[in-house]
Amino acid sequence: MCGIVGYTGSRPAAPLLIEGLKRLEYRGYDSAGIAVEEGASIKAVCRTGKIAQLEQSVTPLHLTGACGIGHTRWATHGEPTEANAHPHLACDGSIAIVHNGIIENHGELRRILEERGHAFASETDSEVIVHLIEDAYSMLAFEASEEDDLTDAAGMRVPHTVAAEMSAGEPSLLAQAVGMACGFLIGSWALCVMAEFEPGKIVCARKESPLLVGCGADGVHVASDVTALAGHVEQACVLADGQIAELDAHAFNVFAQDGEMLTKVDADLMVLDARMDAADRGQYPDFMLKEIHEQPRVIRDTLEDRFDGTRLTIDELGLTHEELNLIERVYIIACGTSYHAALVAKNLIEGWARIPCEVEVASEFRYRNPIITPSTLVVAVSQSGETADTLAAIRDARIKGAKVFGITNVQGSPVARESDGVIYTRANKEVAVASTKSFTGQIVSLTLLALLLAQSKGRLNQGQIRLLFSELVDTAAQAEAILRDVQSVKEAALACKDARSAMFIGRGMGAAVAEEGALKLKEVSYLHAEAYPAGEMKHGPIALIEPGFPVIAVATESPTYEKVLSNIQEAKTRGAFVVAVATEGDERIGQHADRVILIPKVRDALSPITAIIPLQLLAREIALLRGCNIDQPRNLAKSVTVE
Ligand code: G6P
Repeated sequence: MCGIVGYTGSRPAAPLLIEGLKRLEYRGYDSAGIAVEEGASIKAVCRTGKIAQLEQSVTPLHLTGACGIGHTRWATHGEPTEANAHPHLACDGSIAIVHNGIIENHGELRRILEERGHAFASETDSEVIVHLIEDAYSMLAFEASEEDDLTDAAGMRVPHTVAAEMSAGEPSLLAQAVGMACGFLIGSWALCVMAEFEPGKIVCARKESPLLVGCGADGVHVASDVTALAGHVEQACVLADGQIAELDAHAFNVFAQDGEMLTKVDADLMVLDARMDAADRGQYPDFMLKEIHEQPRVIRDTLEDRFDGTRLTIDELGLTHEELNLIERVYIIACGTSYHAALVAKNLIEGWARIPCEVEVASEFRYRNPIITPSTLVVAVSQSGETADTLAAIRDARIKGAKVFGITNVQGSPVARESDGVIYTRANKEVAVASTKSFTGQIVSLTLLALLLAQSKGRLNQGQIRLLFSELVDTAAQAEAILRDVQSVKEAALACKDARSAMFIGRGMGAAVAEEGALKLKEVSYLHAEAYPAGEMKHGPIALIEPGFPVIAVATESPTYEKVLSNIQEAKTRGAFVVAVATEGDERIGQHADRVILIPKVRDALSPITAIIPLQLLAREIALLRGCNIDQPRNLAKSVTVE
């Protein structure tokens, strides 16, 4: 949530910052801004709305400075206005900061700083940071000039920074001031700071919110994630909590706070994953459609090298066969779409491995004191690998002694780094805010995990695993078949586009698919949607149904098919307009549903992989008809780094 970038080097910073912000726009698009060093001063430009708006304002300014920072915002504290857009400036405009995170004690700090004479220009929590740095810097500069007794030829005291050339490995006064300011903050932050009196330098700090720094051929770059660094640097240092980095045009140093001192530490470099490079929309009108169409490839890639015909292996898991065998309970924690993938997995883990499995949204899990024993496996599912609630839940689970296993799409992400083992979903970069191909990658990965647990526990024999694995592979071709013919989805979308609300129903696997289908519709079309296990409809939601009310039923072949059919009839009797996702060859469904979307026959356990595709397409199609922004729906962000 919120994306930040910085660059210092030999090229004009403004175009690089804008390009970086475009790549980070999925993290928030309420407002954006940059600050660039121009001559001896800092020039800041902020605009509400998307990066394109900012770009239009920046281009005519012909900014040429080669050091700058930028921010794209998802508003938390303060409305998405220009005044609340980052960068925020010190009272005299000499320092600029961009911040991702939340400063929990901002109210108290603001009161103290105002008493000390600081004038605030925004309602944001972030602005306290720049004023704290301003104070800390003045104090440190004064102390340093007292010590150094710097005087010019005429005997006049000169500002410390004019004379203070930082020797290699020594933090600048600005870095020290940032360190000191961070000492007053409670909350989370990724920060980039620049100051007129430290030309060509950017100081960064991090606690909980992600930040990466890397050296490129023509300068040093910093950004919230690899996406903005790709193509500029080959390796990057993921700053650890509490670390401070200082960048100049050629190199960067990393420091850890050691009492009141900053001590230089070795930068831990990671090679960037080329697949996370800026994605290209290709022939598709939007990323969501492109990513829906990538799902067959994701299924194949995620399954590659997992089964040698005899045994299933997931080496990255980091758990031995014996350790797997000891697992007596599984918790899956996740948010949003990832949570729905977890709901699918619960059925598989309990059904195949016969291990009790609980699924919980991460923001609830961590405040609930769940029962965790050494034989509990906690599985954290997160596309971005940086969702704040999921991360907090991981930390909590580890403190309680659980083994934590991550399923994520982003190499080197916090979820990957903080888990004992990890499966990468191999979906490659997902750009559209509404998750589609990641969901598929997650279900396939979780299916592998369920099979692995069943294998270790001896609940499924080799022949059964071979059969299930080969059917899993087949879902790729079945997904392709669904994507070839989307006429019935388009017809259903036309019929539903003017509705004000819709209900999604299903049972078992279908219930999880219904949840995800409803979420997709809400996210991209702003149409209210509610998902209910079909059998629960009669306990309340059926009261919503009036003539023409859309009910989207997942009615694929399953042990509960007859029951779903009855529920469809209950809705139909009350005038619902029923759209059913059903299995090819089903001759009865047409008598009950107004529109039928047929998909190939798939075993019930694997059906979510294919059944979700028509619902993803339906949501996108309705959103298109309603004139919505497909890839960047209002109010949302792809990566949620605040709790
Ligand atoms: C946000 C995104 C969703 C995503 C959820 C969890 O709300 O808009 O698409 O499902 O976060 O994200 P994660 O990266 O942890 O899977």
